[in-house]
Amino acid sequence: MNKEDHRFSYEVYPSADELPAQDLLLVNKARAVTSTAYAPYSNFNVGAVARLVNGEMVSGTNQENAAYPVGICAERALLASAATLFPNIAIDSMAISYHNINGVSNHPISPCGMCRQSLVEYEERVKKPIRLILSGMEGKVIVVEKANDLLPLSFGSIDLK
Ligand code: THU
Repeated sequence: MNKEDHRFSYEVYPSADELPAQDLLLVNKARAVTSTAYAPYSNFNVGAVARLVNGEMVSGTNQENAAYPVGICAERALLASAATLFPNIAIDSMAISYHNINGVSNHPISPCGMCRQSLVEYEERVKKPIRLILSGMEGKVIVVEKANDLLPLSFGSIDLK
């Protein structure tokens, strides 16, 4: 038996103001786009904005449904748009923020398990890691180098060969 180790490091900024200008811009856009979320059931509005390697920006927000499982998260809404509008163009960075209408929005959230799986597939598909910039409307910001860091031992296309 061998014991193996998985670890990753990430950056923590005390506030978005400390981020490099390009990242701050993305965070501010993600915060702003939360207003277009459709989340009447959770009142938890999530916004994601990505900068592609060609400089284009794509956004996504969560879109809920009275039949709850039909709802889609902001991150997967974004990936579907990016793949449709800019096929095969890699994503450089994605900022994810949220506005919790009934609570606080002062700490970063990170993508749910289903979104992690989708993000990892996208990284593999376009052969480039996606930097994730995670924040609330205020407070500290976490920057993860690649979505794959959030899904160790992931299942992928190689397993289907
Ligand atoms: N949600 C997202 O859109 N992204 C996340 O990273 C976490 C959760 C959505 C799903 C649902 O509409 C609401 O937030 C509450 O879970």
